[in-house]
Amino acid sequence: MTVETDEQLQRLKAIGRICAVGLRKMLAAAAPGISTRELDDLGRSYLNSRGAQSAPEVMYQFPGATCISVTPVIAHGIPGDYVLKTGDLIHIDVSAEKDGYFADTGASMQVGKRTKDVTALLEATKATLKKTLAAAKAGVLISELGRTMQSEARAHGYNTIAELASHGIGRKLHEYPSDVLNVPNPRDKRVLTEGLVLALEPFLTAGSGRITEERDGWSLRTLDRSIAAQFEHTIVITQGKPIILTQA
Ligand code: CO
Ligand code: CO
Repeated sequence: MTVETDEQLQRLKAIGRICAVGLRKMLAAAAPGISTRELDDLGRSYLNSRGAQSAPEVMYQFPGATCISVTPVIAHGIPGDYVLKTGDLIHIDVSAEKDGYFADTGASMQVGKRTKDVTALLEATKATLKKTLAAAKAGVLISELGRTMQSEARAHGYNTIAELASHGIGRKLHEYPSDVLNVPNPRDKRVLTEGLVLALEPFLTAGSGRITEERDGWSLRTLDRSIAAQFEHTIVITQGKPIILTQA
């Protein structure tokens, strides 16, 4: 959507903050011994306590309030019986709706301890999101976002996952502009415009960048089972720095 009134902006900020706080609470609770279902319950309770609904449940009948992915699964992981253990690299994605407005945020983390290879990947993915946010301005080609993501990822020695894209958001979880690719797309002539609401989500991996769906029909994992990470913010495009809606 494109923000046209202050009321729209305030509602987007409200749901953005709810998603961000929910994610922060889940990340804080993600310790060895907790199951991904327990983590998801925590996320759901928080969203509901703030009058928000899980977006993947409402829009896609996803079997969980949030997506919790344990490497090599990197997206759409279903919360369940799996109990987190020390060293797991996990990704939590929180998207929700309130009063007809949607926001979407995500983060990766390592459970219980830090290893060099995972820490390097997490730092590179954060840096890539930061660079991409800085490039996201009115008047810039949408394809510049993917170009920035890929060049920053490569500068750190990683690939982006081309099949997982950033996207427009606002009145739905996924809307115009769809397929904001995390790789350069010279055929994409669309331009970022003031007020446009986007969820930017670079996915970085130490492997080839190819992914495949698991038999559960949801979970997407890296084909070569290499580690992968994502950080995501919902933003509003302006003439200058974007407004980050998903800040706790
Ligand atoms: Co997301
Ligand atoms: Co998203």
